[in-house]
Amino acid sequence: MTWRATILTLFPDMFPGPLGLSLAGRALREERWAIEALDIRSFATDRHRTVDDTPFGGGAGMVMRPDVLDVACEAATSRNPGAPLVYLTPRGRRLDQALVRELAAGPGVTVLCGRYEGVDQRVIEARGMLEVSAGDFVLSGGEPAALLMLDACIRLLPGVMGGAASAEEESHGAEGLLEYPHYTRPAEWQGRKVPEVLLSGHHAEVARWRRAEAEAATRTRRPDLWDQHLLRARAEPNPRA
Ligand code: ADE
Repeated sequence: MTWRATILTLFPDMFPGPLGLSLAGRALREERWAIEALDIRSFATDRHRTVDDTPFGGGAGMVMRPDVLDVACEAATSRNPGAPLVYLTPRGRRLDQALVRELAAGPGVTVLCGRYEGVDQRVIEARGMLEVSAGDFVLSGGEPAALLMLDACIRLLPGVMGGAASAEEESHGAEGLLEYPHYTRPAEWQGRKVPEVLLSGHHAEVARWRRAEAEAATRTRRPDLWDQHLLRARAEPNPRA
């Protein structure tokens, strides 16, 4: 079954964009996933193809109309049955690897990319949208956030990441740790040496060193992830830990 992304946007030309290249692009050609971008404006009914209006209560900017979006959502969700309807907004639940895993495991996603100051709250509620944020910053629209979310999902689809190591072995993987640092040739560069243990050929010691580096990086750089990791480790003790 092909994992399906249906996008509602005012800028359909932004898709597949970078997802047509590299790993995701190859997987797209192999039909491991599919994408369809629908132009929200094509669901407007008036002569001027209006999709937005001024906010009740006043204030700057424009708000996307619920009536137009509702028709657009109906069309999009009917083309992607069973897929959750995600609305990308800085007000949403912050995207993390757990949510990415959930979305990748399902049939696909229908994504609403907002523009202007936002979307009328009533259609968000009426359609039971899952509000998701790419992070604590503000984009000019949901499209780059959609590309980012899709990229994270696509690399988890079966057959997309080739090679030996599983996609779950790295940063924010099953263990919720940041990755250890990587090195390749030359063994000495600009007076900087690769850590001795990596040249030793002792696989168990390499694994121990990497584990310690991953833990130290997580503890110092991302105390929030470290706390989560400790809570999980306490709940389900890991023989490796
Ligand atoms: N739209 C604007 N900013 C966004 C963000 N940070 N995440 C998701 N969608 C957005």
